[in-house]
Amino acid sequence: MRDDLTAVLVTEEQIRERLAAMAKQIEADYAGRDLLLVGVLRGAVMVMADLARHLDRHVEMDWMAISSYGSGTTSSGVVRILKDLDTDITGRHVLLVEDIIDTGLTLSWLVRNLSSRNPASVDLCTLLRKPEAQRMAVEVSYVGFDIPNEFVVGYGLDYGERYRNLRCIGTLAPAVYTSDTRGEHGPSADR
Ligand code: PRP
Repeated sequence: MRDDLTAVLVTEEQIRERLAAMAKQIEADYAGRDLLLVGVLRGAVMVMADLARHLDRHVEMDWMAISSYGSGTTSSGVVRILKDLDTDITGRHVLLVEDIIDTGLTLSWLVRNLSSRNPASVDLCTLLRKPEAQRMAVEVSYVGFDIPNEFVVGYGLDYGERYRNLRCIGTLAPAVYTSDTRGEHGPSADR
């Protein structure tokens, strides 16, 4: 898998160090308050698992699965819930955990949706953010890395459901998607 990358943007070590630092900040910010981590399937699985294990405090974890309507080439911002939370978040402090904020459309919809359920607070934590791609202003409390507007895979991020289990984050070699015979249309069709 590693050989399919043209460049490593964020190493395994950098991810570990950054998540540890973000966890320290989260511990300080939520001291004395309960905390519910909400992960957005599927990309956030790795971030959620590692961030949570860096937190030296009690947390609950829940998951949502969503699907974006649209042309298939870009996020539309219109979202359908495939799996909702099992937790009633009324009065709870919610921290949404994401792998990447790209256009910001998904997260801005999610924040609005969760805020309508009367939580005590809703905040965002993302490992990656693409400032150049952002179309919707989203206030993010915890950002791991700002990255260029390039298609990236690894550490939860996929290309055609592959590469999620790569330990680092990198850019795919064009040969991977030009030779793809599984009906994929290249990174621009994905994220
Ligand atoms: C990714 C990511 C966010 C969304 C961000 O999910 O996990 O949920 O895209 O994009 P946006 O800022 O442009 O809205 P994706 O749709 O790739 O699904 P996945 O997590 O199952 O891979």
